[in-house]
Amino acid sequence: MATSGTPYYSYPGQQPHPIPISVPDSKPSDSDSPLSSSISQSPLVHAFFTDPPNTWPSDLSDKLLQSTSLSASPTSYVDLYDNKYVLKTNTLPSAILDRPRLAHEIHIMALAGPECALPILGRHFLHGKINGFVTEYKKCVLDRRLIGELGPGHTHTNGVRIDIDPGVYKNRKEMIFKFVALLERLHSKGILHGDINPSNLVLVDSDLRFIDFAESVLESSPRPLHPKNRVLTARYNSPTALNDTFAPLTRADDLYTAGMTMLHMYTGRLPFADLWEGEDMDEVEVEERIMGGLRPDLSVIDDEEVREVIARYLQAGEPNRQATSL
Ligand SMILES: Nc1ncnc2c1ncn2[C@@H]1O[C@H](COP(=O)(O)OP(=O)(O)O)[C@@H](O)[C@H]1O
Ligand SMILES: [Mg+2]
Repeated sequence: MATSGTPYYSYPGQQPHPIPISVPDSKPSDSDSPLSSSISQSPLVHAFFTDPPNTWPSDLSDKLLQSTSLSASPTSYVDLYDNKYVLKTNTLPSAILDRPRLAHEIHIMALAGPECALPILGRHFLHGKINGFVTEYKKCVLDRRLIGELGPGHTHTNGVRIDIDPGVYKNRKEMIFKFVALLERLHSKGILHGDINPSNLVLVDSDLRFIDFAESVLESSPRPLHPKNRVLTARYNSPTALNDTFAPLTRADDLYTAGMTMLHMYTGRLPFADLWEGEDMDEVEVEERIMGGLRPDLSVIDDEEVREVIARYLQAGEPNRQATSL
């Protein structure tokens, strides 16, 4: 069934999938770079195609289409195609060193279902192994334009807000309760997300869904997380998780990071942004301060109900708690 490295036309009877990523038919204009014109004229541009029956729709083994990069991390590339589809693939070192990573993420997304995750539209194969997956492009809770413009943690106008999407910020209380419901749905399926923060939330209609299940685990079979994966979003992490990066993930860790996420959504500011800005601390220093007992100041939350729910979620992740639920 492997489609590895083989152009679709070598599979007799297989047709390009009816929802290929469209490539403009017209010739590239003179202003196009030589690279983009050679890509759009390649015979492999319609690389989304149907796999053998009973496998995912629109699997692909080539990704030569023109794309825009949404994100690049040590473990993954995330590219946008035709302003509609997002392809997340392993970066090359992790494709070699950590082959099951994307397969694991796809598996958990399928278990989480469309009420918690985005449906998978297709998969990408590299040398016969799953190396990526396709989802629909959705609006993100973190406003990507502002992240790019300002850098993480920096605010626009004297700390009022904002790297949260303006629509989410405007309806932040409602969104926070939708987020609580989303996490309850995920946990009720016995799935722990493992990397909850605003950059891993997208909007579907006016509701929220998780993305980025790379660190997710089934609660029934927890596995220790690799410390390197925790560094990027350290400031959301629970003191327990920071103190022992080899400890298995628990529901309490998800609840604490959810509390931090709600704090960020409500204030529009990265947790501990004042330390970042005022005292010029880096992530490692913030992490050390959290381990030493630093906690966010919840008095900045002017809504009592929101403040209470955030306090409850943060409390669930305190080191002396063995919370399995709220
Ligand atoms: N379906 C999607 N729609 C919109 N943006 C997306 C989508 N998938 C990923 N992204 C963007 O790409 C970023 C990185 O993707 P993610 O799955 O979180 O990978 P990583 O493991 O690198 O954090 C996200 O924070 C989000 O901004
Ligand atoms: Mg992410």
